[in-house]
Amino acid sequence: MKVYYFTGTGNSRYIAERICAAAGGGEALSIAEALRGQGGAGTSDIVLSGDAVGLVFPVYWLCVPAPAIQFLRRVRIESSYIFAVLNYGGIALTAHDHLLEIARERGIRLSLLAGCRMPDNFAPWYDLERMNRRFTADKIQAKADRVASRVAARRKGGTHATITRPFLYYSKKRAAREALDFDKRIFRVEAHCTGCGLCAQACPAGNIRFGTEGGTGPRPVFGGACWCCLACTNTCPVNAIRCKGEKNKARYYNPFVTPIEN
Ligand SMILES: Cc1cc2nc3c(=O)[nH]c(=O)nc-3n(C[C@H](O)[C@H](O)[C@H](O)COP(=O)(O)O)c2cc1C
Ligand code: SF4
Ligand code: SF4
Repeated sequence: MKVYYFTGTGNSRYIAERICAAAGGGEALSIAEALRGQGGAGTSDIVLSGDAVGLVFPVYWLCVPAPAIQFLRRVRIESSYIFAVLNYGGIALTAHDHLLEIARERGIRLSLLAGCRMPDNFAPWYDLERMNRRFTADKIQAKADRVASRVAARRKGGTHATITRPFLYYSKKRAAREALDFDKRIFRVEAHCTGCGLCAQACPAGNIRFGTEGGTGPRPVFGGACWCCLACTNTCPVNAIRCKGEKNKARYYNPFVTPIEN
């Protein structure tokens, strides 16, 4: 079994790993790394094959996130059991139909499309302090294991459209608008940044360089090619990356995953 995941804060990686464990073996592989290995936005097909091939990624603004779209547009999957797990913080809604649409375009026949609710990492909107209190490590493990056991049992289903086309069209437009210049609009680096470079290591998009703009530094400078994953702000060891709109300074990273492994 091969399970390809895209993650910002570890949830998708954790689910992918639990699926491999439940299936008694397999590999969890990074979508970001696969895209980097193929020269990012190149055109050649990436062939994924195995007795079972899986895709795990988060929902962004009720849609499939940009790197997963990029990946799906590049892959050819050769397997008799193809599954996808959409991992979300509160509501996935049109993401389900968005994924089905892309799969249809790419000739990918999903056997199982499942959802998995995980802690919400979206600091610009949600109160992560409250969420961290409620969503304990035990709960995270139980949620991941529930979907992992469905995959291990080769369950099928969830592959029918649920939402009308105009609703999906609206969601996609909105997601594109929200993602536009996300890093430039949302992040501000505070003066106590130590210049350690961990945010750049964690960034799956390679979107952070270091500069001495404004006479300070070195400080992270965002490049405008952001995947909106929030790995940078959620992994900074001194919590120096503020998000516009955040309710407090609480941050989230999956407790079972070591950061900087995107
Ligand atoms: C840019 C962005 C948009 C998000 N939009 C949604 C959303 O529409 N619905 C939802 O339920 N969760 C949303 N989330 C929360 C994530 O889907 C959720 O926390 C997920 O578990 C993160 O997975 P990861 O740790 O693998 O990155 C969003 C997160 C980000 C960073
Ligand atoms: S991880 Fe935090 S402290 Fe380190 S360079 Fe990035 S913003 Fe600065
Ligand atoms: S800059 Fe931050 S939010 Fe954007 S892709 Fe990199 S780690 Fe993710």
